[in-house]
Amino acid sequence: MAKGKPKEIEEKEKRIMERMSKIGKKIAVMSGKGGVGKSSVTALIAIHLAKSGKKVGVFDTDFLGPSIPKLFGLESARLGFTEKGMEPVLTKLGIKVVSMHFMLPSKEQPVIWRGPMISKVLLEFLEKVYWGELDYLLFDLPPGTGDVPLTIMQSSKPDAIVVVTTPQDLAKEIVEKGVNMAIHLGVDEIHLVENMSYFQCPNCGHISYIFGESKISDLTLKYGLKTEAKIPINPKIAELGDAGKIEDLEEDYFKNMNL
Ligand SMILES: Nc1ncnc2c1ncn2[C@@H]1O[C@H](COP(=O)(O)OP(=O)(O)O)[C@@H](O)[C@H]1O
Ligand SMILES: [Mg+2]
Repeated sequence: MAKGKPKEIEEKEKRIMERMSKIGKKIAVMSGKGGVGKSSVTALIAIHLAKSGKKVGVFDTDFLGPSIPKLFGLESARLGFTEKGMEPVLTKLGIKVVSMHFMLPSKEQPVIWRGPMISKVLLEFLEKVYWGELDYLLFDLPPGTGDVPLTIMQSSKPDAIVVVTTPQDLAKEIVEKGVNMAIHLGVDEIHLVENMSYFQCPNCGHISYIFGESKISDLTLKYGLKTEAKIPINPKIAELGDAGKIEDLEEDYFKNMNL
């Protein structure tokens, strides 16, 4: 006869579900590879939602390359602790942020754990962070379909997935792998964001497809994805992100995304 899960794990999962039950919608942001702008897109979606009056949290689960704190200018912030649990750090717009970065002694220190340890710490965060009531919780996942994405998908059961890609990345099966992983794990609300989709000349308005024509609609059709968004190459995104002022970006690329 199959043995049930150890009691300790069962109780941990129960506590995680209790925390998660206060959250309206959980959205995991994933990508096939790094550098496609996943963290920037996570931040911009959070900003879009916060500016629409929603209560938003961002959990930066990219422990090996945490960049959410930098985008919001929160690099020197540290998590607080109260009797309710770990307290997220607030951005200017009031977005609640949790990142491994807030636990490190300095920003030069890398996290040097192996996968199983990282998954364990992730569960610890899910269990201990006091998000309070949120309309949305966004997970900035590390690239690919490894330990961390799997742990998040299984333990916090996102309601939706946003897959971030670039035009040249789209050709690769790796994006489809992410989509398939989500489908396999029972998430049927999938959105697609093509980042660095095109460049619009600020002087004459001409649009150039620097990385080739968009292929985003092919995937949307193939998998029956819910919505798609295209974000141009916008030097302001890099500039404001580097300066920790991503909330100052004027453009909102997610107005037509039904999240
Ligand atoms: N649409 C864009 N236009 C210009 N620069 C961008 C855009 N999206 C992302 N970037 C820049 O590209 C780099 C990688 O983005 P990041 O969000 O950290 O990617 P990832 O999380 O996928 O590794 C950053 O320097 C960021 O500022
Ligand atoms: Mg990132």
